[in-house]
Amino acid sequence: MSTQYSVAGSVAIIRLDNPPVNGLGQSVRAGIVRDLSRALDTPDVEAIVLAGTDGVFSAGADIREFGTSNAGAEPSLHAVIEALEDSPKPVVAAIEGTCFGGGLELALATHHRVATAASRVGLPEVKLGLVPGAGGTQRLPRVLDVRTAAEMITGGAPRTARALAADPRQRLFDRVVEADAVAAAIEFAREVAGRGVRTRVRDLAVDPGGATVLGALRAQLTARSRGFAAPLLALDLVEKAIAALFDVGLAAEGAAFRELVGGVQSAALRHAFFAERAARRVPGLAPDTPIRDVRQVAVVGAGTMGVGIAMTFVDAGIPVTVLETSQEALDRGLATIRRNYQSQVDKGKLAAIVLEQRMALLTPSVDYAALADVDLVIEAVFEDMEVKRAVFTRLDAVTKPGAILATNTSTLDVDQIAALTGRPGDVLGMHFFSPANVMALLEIVRAGRTSDDVLATALAVAQRIGKTAVVSGVCDGFIGNRMLARYRRAAQLMLEAGATPERIDSAIEGFGYAMGPFRMADLAGGDIGWAVRKRRYAEDPDMPRDVLSDTLCEMGRFGQKTGAGWYDYEPGRRAAIPSPVVAEMLADFRRQWDIRSVEISDEEIVQRLVFALVDEGARILDEGIALRASDIDVVYLAGYGFPRHRGGPMFHADTVGLDRVEDAVRRFDVDGRGPAPLLARLAAEGGTFR
Ligand code: NAI
Repeated sequence: MSTQYSVAGSVAIIRLDNPPVNGLGQSVRAGIVRDLSRALDTPDVEAIVLAGTDGVFSAGADIREFGTSNAGAEPSLHAVIEALEDSPKPVVAAIEGTCFGGGLELALATHHRVATAASRVGLPEVKLGLVPGAGGTQRLPRVLDVRTAAEMITGGAPRTARALAADPRQRLFDRVVEADAVAAAIEFAREVAGRGVRTRVRDLAVDPGGATVLGALRAQLTARSRGFAAPLLALDLVEKAIAALFDVGLAAEGAAFRELVGGVQSAALRHAFFAERAARRVPGLAPDTPIRDVRQVAVVGAGTMGVGIAMTFVDAGIPVTVLETSQEALDRGLATIRRNYQSQVDKGKLAAIVLEQRMALLTPSVDYAALADVDLVIEAVFEDMEVKRAVFTRLDAVTKPGAILATNTSTLDVDQIAALTGRPGDVLGMHFFSPANVMALLEIVRAGRTSDDVLATALAVAQRIGKTAVVSGVCDGFIGNRMLARYRRAAQLMLEAGATPERIDSAIEGFGYAMGPFRMADLAGGDIGWAVRKRRYAEDPDMPRDVLSDTLCEMGRFGQKTGAGWYDYEPGRRAAIPSPVVAEMLADFRRQWDIRSVEISDEEIVQRLVFALVDEGARILDEGIALRASDIDVVYLAGYGFPRHRGGPMFHADTVGLDRVEDAVRRFDVDGRGPAPLLARLAAEGGTFR
C-alpha cells in the first residue's frame, strides 16, 4: 500500500505514502485510482483531499523505477491525472514541502489547490534533459502568468508558493496558509463541496498576450543552450499551450517527451545525476566506518584559496580559525572576505545581519597555539614544498591527536607531505577550485597511508559544505588538472598547426562548453601559469616548452587583467576581440619553424580536445587514480565546465563508440605514445568505460 485512505465527515482524504519523497511509483499511482473510486462510491463523501505525508507532497517520478518495467506499468500517470480531473466530486490538493515534476502535474489535475507558503513547486524535468510529460507544459501556463510558467518549465528551478501567490492573477493556489495545508484543504473541501465548485485547469484560458513575452526568453535560451535541446522544446510547448487546443498541446507534449526520453542527452543527464551519487561511495570503505567529529576548522594561509575555503565553511555555519604569517596578511585576508560578503549584500543576495554573523565565525590568528583544539586543518599556503614542510611540522606539533591535516596543494606530492608528520594516517588532500566558495568541485586526495575514517570524514565534510566530492589518488595534477594539461596541449598544438584561438574556442563552445580554452586562459590570467612553467622548466630542462604561451606572456599579455591576452579587450569590457598581434605572433612562429598551416575542421578541433581528455582519463582509470569512469565525468562536470548534457568526457566517449575514439587518438598521436592501453583494449573488445 502506498496510499492511505480516511474519511472525515463529508471529505475523503487520500495520502500519498511512499517515503522518502512520495515518488509516484506504480503502487502510489494504483493507490490513488483505487482510493478515488472508493471515495466516489461512498455517497456521504462530497469532496476529496489529495495530500502527502510528513510534510512532503511529492517530488515526482520515482527515480528507483527509472529503467525498470514498473515505470510504464498501468495505471500511467496520465490515467491517474484523467481520473482525478474527471472526478465528479471536487478534489483539493494539499501542497506541503516539495511538489515537483509529476507531483505538480498531479496537483494541476485536481480542481483546487491549498499550499503552505514555504512549499516549493517546480517542473525540474529539463534538468534531466526532458520536458514534463503529464500535462505540465499545458496546465501551468493556464494558472500562472505565461512568463513565470515558461521560466519554470524551461529552467526547471522551483519557486515557493509564497512567491507565486504574490501575483494576484495567479490561479495555481486557491489558498496559501502558513502551516498545515492538509487541515486547510479539508476546510476548503467542505466549503466547495457544499457549492459543488469544480474547476478544471484544462478549461482555463491562457493569456493570449503571453506569446509576446516569450520572444525574449527564446533569444536567451538560444544563446545559452549550446545544443542542449530540452529547454527550447519546452518553450515550443508553452507556445502550443497559447496557440492550440488543450488536447493538441497535450499530444505535442507527449511526442516531445517520448523523443527526449529515448535520446542521448537525457541519458547523459541521468548519468550525471547517478554519477554524483556514486562518487560519494568509496568501494572497500565499510559503511560503518566511523566519522570523526568536525566542529572547529582552521585554514592556514589567507590568500586566494584560503579566503574562499574559509568562506565555504563559514557559509555552512562552521567556525574557522584563520592563520597567517603576519598581521598585515591576516588583515588583508579578512578584508577580502568582508568585501566578498559585502558585494553579496549589495546584490541583495545576503542580509547585512548574516554578513556580521558569518564574520563572527572567523577567528584570525598569527599564533599556531590557536590551532590546539581544531578538528580539521586545511593548509593553503604557497605552493612550495619547503613552505609546506615548515607548516606541517608545526601543525603536527600543535594540533590535538585525531585532528585531520589536509593540504590544498594542486601539484605537490601528498604522500611526501603526509610523511612530514608523525601521523600520515591523518593527512590527505582537499583540493578546492578557485573561487573556492563558488566552485562545486572538491577533489579529495587519498594518500597511500590516509586512514579510512579520515577519508570517510572528508567525504562527510564535503557534503556538509555543499561540495561535489570526488576521490582521487596521488599523481601530478590529480584527476582534473592532469587531464586539463592534455586538453591545453591539444589546443596549443592546433594553434601551432594553423588554427586561430577564436576558431578553436568557437568550435568547443559549439560542442557545449561555456568558454573555450583561450577565452578561459584570458579570464584566469596567464601570469600564474607562466610562473609555474618557469619553475618547472628550471626543474626539468627537458620539459617541452609552451613557446606560444610564453611569448604571449613575454609581451605582457596576461589576459583580461592587462587588457590583452589571446584576444584584445576594450577598456572595461569583457568581449573577446580577435587580435592582429596574436595573428602576427602565430604567423611568425610558423615561419620560424617552417610550418605550412593546415585547415582543421570544427569537428576535428572538438575531437582533438575532448579525446585528449578521454585518453588521459583512461590512463587515470587504469592506474587506479580514479575509482570509476563516472568519477572522472563528475570532476569534469562540476569543475571544468564540460557540457552537462554530454554527460562528461568518459560518458561522451562511450556514446561516440570507443573504437572511433581510439582510431582518432591514434591518428592524432600527439606525443608518440599511442592511445591509452585501457582505451585500446576496450575498443578492441567493443566495450565501454561503464
Ligand atoms: P596565495 O599566494 O594567494 O596565498 C598563499 C597565502 O599563504 C598567502 O596569503 C601567504 O601569506 C600565506 N602563507 C605563506 N606561508 C605561510 C605560512 N608559513 N603560514 C601561514 N600562511 C602562509 O596562493 P593560493 O593561490 O591561495 O594557493 C594556495 C595553495 O592552494 C597552493 O598550494 C596552491 O597550489 C593551491 N591551489 C591554488 C589554486 C588557485 O587557483 N590559485 C587552486 C587550487 C589549489
